[in-house]
Amino acid sequence: MMNREEKELLAMCIAFLRQHISSPSHDLKHSLDVLKYSLFLGRKHKANRKVLIVASILHDFSRHYGARGELQGEESVRLLEEFLNRLPLLEEEKKSVEIAITSHSLRKKDDSLPIEAKIISDADKLAGLGVIGLLRISMYAGEIGKGFSYVKRKLFEDMKHRKRLLYLDESKKLAEQLDREIMGIRELLRKKI
Ligand SMILES: [Fe+2]
Repeated sequence: MMNREEKELLAMCIAFLRQHISSPSHDLKHSLDVLKYSLFLGRKHKANRKVLIVASILHDFSRHYGARGELQGEESVRLLEEFLNRLPLLEEEKKSVEIAITSHSLRKKDDSLPIEAKIISDADKLAGLGVIGLLRISMYAGEIGKGFSYVKRKLFEDMKHRKRLLYLDESKKLAEQLDREIMGIRELLRKKI
């Protein structure tokens, strides 16, 4: 359950995001999936919930302006600077949000990151696995004009890489469950695409 302060913060972030969404594979559902995973992981690790709320909802902000690749997190922080200053966050919380958003798209693990950044990175990876991950890969392929070979590569190689990037044991367990969801589908697709 969220307290009033958390609910207000969440509502501010959602209202802001809604004005900018243009990538269906990174829409509000994706942000809310990341939030669900991050609050679950955050409970066990006593992470700052306000940081998790803001970073979960806004981590893919630059995607709605066409950003791709490792530096899209950094680009999101740049685009969000003004909005983050308007939020009721302590300076150190704002800094944590920026670190979490910047680092979630990096392709290498960094064990020195604060727990909130590790959680957002894991939550985002988990939201890209399982049947939802498969659907999002297909949607994203359409968004950027890619076909079956792209979907196949993402499904058979990138999903494995995502799992290797996970930090927390709880995340690794969840990833195995999500992987089992699509085991049959993956085998079917291996033969058909
Ligand atoms: Fe994401």
